[in-house]
Order: sequence, then structure tokens, then C-alpha cells
Amino acid sequence: MAISRSRRNPGDRPVDPSFPAEIDWDHIPKHVACVMDGNGRWASRRGLPRTEGHAAGEEALVDAIDGALALGIGWITMYAFSTENWRRPVDEVRYLMRFNESLLMRRRDELNEKGVRIRFAGRRDWRVPRRVLRRMDEAAELTKDNRTLTLTMAFNYGGRAEIVDAVKALVAEGVSADKVDEKAIRRHLYHPDMPDPDLVVRTSGEHRISNYLLWEIAYSELVFPEVLWPDFRREHLYEAVLEFQRRERRYGGLET
Ligand code: IPE
Ligand code: IPE
Ligand code: MG
Repeated sequence: MAISRSRRNPGDRPVDPSFPAEIDWDHIPKHVACVMDGNGRWASRRGLPRTEGHAAGEEALVDAIDGALALGIGWITMYAFSTENWRRPVDEVRYLMRFNESLLMRRRDELNEKGVRIRFAGRRDWRVPRRVLRRMDEAAELTKDNRTLTLTMAFNYGGRAEIVDAVKALVAEGVSADKVDEKAIRRHLYHPDMPDPDLVVRTSGEHRISNYLLWEIAYSELVFPEVLWPDFRREHLYEAVLEFQRRERRYGGLET
């Protein structure tokens, strides 16, 4: 008798009834990276201030994490604030700093109970308020032993900044030019142990990368659903995974 696909759901978790029947449990992406985009447009369409869109994005984030847990995805990385987002009006930046701080306080215990390890990728520069850094450190410390899912929040993150920081670290170590190779650069990324994303999902129909994980996405599959981030739910993640499963990855070689 053929084993039904849903029975192969890893970890013996209860099967989510919203799983599409076509999900191939042998090809679940190991790492999914999301660009949570469209909060401002979501709010404007409702005649609300942009900040309401960011607030509404929390539900989407939590549901996406639950979806990742249900699929048995091991790594999820979320773009929360880019090194370019400092260009926004000071009130919006201030809101985003406070919002991310309070989100961590609201959500860290439930994420911890779900086995989520929370980490951060980005620059800890003077522009990030000390209080926010403290909350980030607390959430990371609380969840550091969890291994079910690693949630990396890309915060004050820029792909170019990450590469610059890696090169700086190499130079500071005194590594000679002939020792600089891809492995050496990777060793100095923010999280050298993080596997490259298999799949990048950018919501809101924008077809660009906006300085996200530039080194790591060299061979990622990219999908661009139209949904605005605050409306994103686990079903959209399942759709993106199905799209990923229809793609053929060749890494510069020929199809096998
Ligand atoms: C993404 O939504 C959230 C952040 C960049 C912090 P936006 O705020 O970029 O929303 P849009 O793109 O203006 O709709
Ligand atoms: C990328 O979205 C950054 C985050 C989602 C945090 P942006 O809205 O800042 O990107 P651009 O400006 O449209 O390229
Ligand atoms: Mg945007």
C-alpha cells in the first residue's frame, strides 16, 4: 500500500488540513527567506497610516512561522528592516524600532515554546537604539538551544554591508590575498552556519531584491506573489513551496 504523502509529514505533527495535496514531502526547501513587503500599501488602501500596515504584518509573520513549522522547514529568514530603510521619515523609523522591540517581547515566549531559535542578521550600529539591541540579545539568549526552526530576523540588514563587513574581518585578520576565496568570505558572513536560501519569497508584486542576502541567494529560486505582506498567510507559503517544487535547479550544469 502506498504511504499517503500527508503521513510523511516529518516530526509526526498533526497534519494541517490546508496543506495542498500536491506537496512533495521529499523536497521541502531547507531555508526560505522572505521580503515582507507591502505594509504601507496595505494601510494606504484602507485609508490608514502606514504604521498600521506594519502592525498588521505581525499576524502574517506569526502565521508564516507556523506554516514553516508545519512543513518542517528548518530555516526561515525575514527581512524586517534594511540598511536603506533609515531613509524613511523619522516617525516611521521610530515606529519600526519600537514595533520590533515590542514584537520580540510579545512573541518570544510562544516562539520559544514552539522550538524556534531566534537570531538576528544585520549591523549593530549606533542608529539602533540600545533598548532594541537588548531585547534582541534577550530573545536570542532565551531561544539559543532550540533547533526545530531557526528564525533569522534581518534587521538593519544590507547584503552589501554584510559583504563589506566580511571583507573587513578578513583584512583585520591579516589574511593574505591568495587565501581569499569563497569559503573565506562565507566564514565571515553574519551566520556562517546558515544554509543558503533555497527559496526567496517577496510579497507585494515587487520584482526586486532590495539588497537582501546578496551573497547567499546566488542560486535561490525567487517567487513574487502579489499578496501584500499583512494579508500573507501560511497558505501563501505553501503555494510558494509548490512553485519551488515545480522549478528545476541546475546550478550552471545541465538537467539531470
Ligand atoms: C515592508 O513594507 C516593511 C518595511 C520595509 C519595514 P513597506 O513599508 O515597504 O510597504 P510598501 O512597500 O511601502 O507598501
Ligand atoms: C525591502 O523592502 C526591505 C524590507 C521589506 C524590510 P523596501 O520596501 O524597503 O524595498 P524597496 O525600497 O521597495 O526596494
Ligand atoms: Mg516596500
